[in-house]
Amino acid sequence: MKKLKILFQNNEKWAAEKTKQDPNYFKRLAKDQDPHFLWIGCSDSRVPANEIVGLEPGELFVHRNVANICPHTDFNCLSVLEFAVNMVHVEHVIICGHYGCSGVKAAMEDHHLGLVDNWLRNIRDVHARHKEELDAIQDPHLRHNRLVELNVLQQVLNVCHTTIVQEAWANHRSLYIHGWVYDLESGRLKDLNSCFSSLDQVEEVYRIQMKRQH
Ligand code: CO
Repeated sequence: MKKLKILFQNNEKWAAEKTKQDPNYFKRLAKDQDPHFLWIGCSDSRVPANEIVGLEPGELFVHRNVANICPHTDFNCLSVLEFAVNMVHVEHVIICGHYGCSGVKAAMEDHHLGLVDNWLRNIRDVHARHKEELDAIQDPHLRHNRLVELNVLQQVLNVCHTTIVQEAWANHRSLYIHGWVYDLESGRLKDLNSCFSSLDQVEEVYRIQMKRQH
């Protein structure tokens, strides 16, 4: 129980420090949020979203799951995306993977882990799609990291294929979908230069003609 007590002590200190710097800090935050970014990242404890991009509470809308996956059947991720795009009006969606991701590594191996194997099936599909490129990489560490990147690129596409994003684009909203990777060893972010901001960038079979709302 001692470990939990520390969390409350930390919280007490943090809240007091924030209030000391700005007496209205929590009153202001409690009223509203206005983040410009949605971050979809891995649950890994070493990739704390706000911290690595230097954003304060209220500045980053966050969704995290094992290996930063956005399957079209996951109502959790889709609900966050819908809320972020339609209610919070974020302008940027960032899918951020990280090198050394154990979720991605598990998807490259044949051990049975449990329920999570079904979740990680999404990454096995990415692996299968890019098998030739991945097989050509001799170093297992580099092969693993390349699959981390390919997974992010696939999740960028998955987000672009949702009705949520396509509807926003049909309504001439400025909405950019980005793919990034975080390097645990250097603390640096890498932009995979995969930025989508309109329907014509999307493969034809995934395009849906949305009715414009206004
Ligand atoms: Co991870």
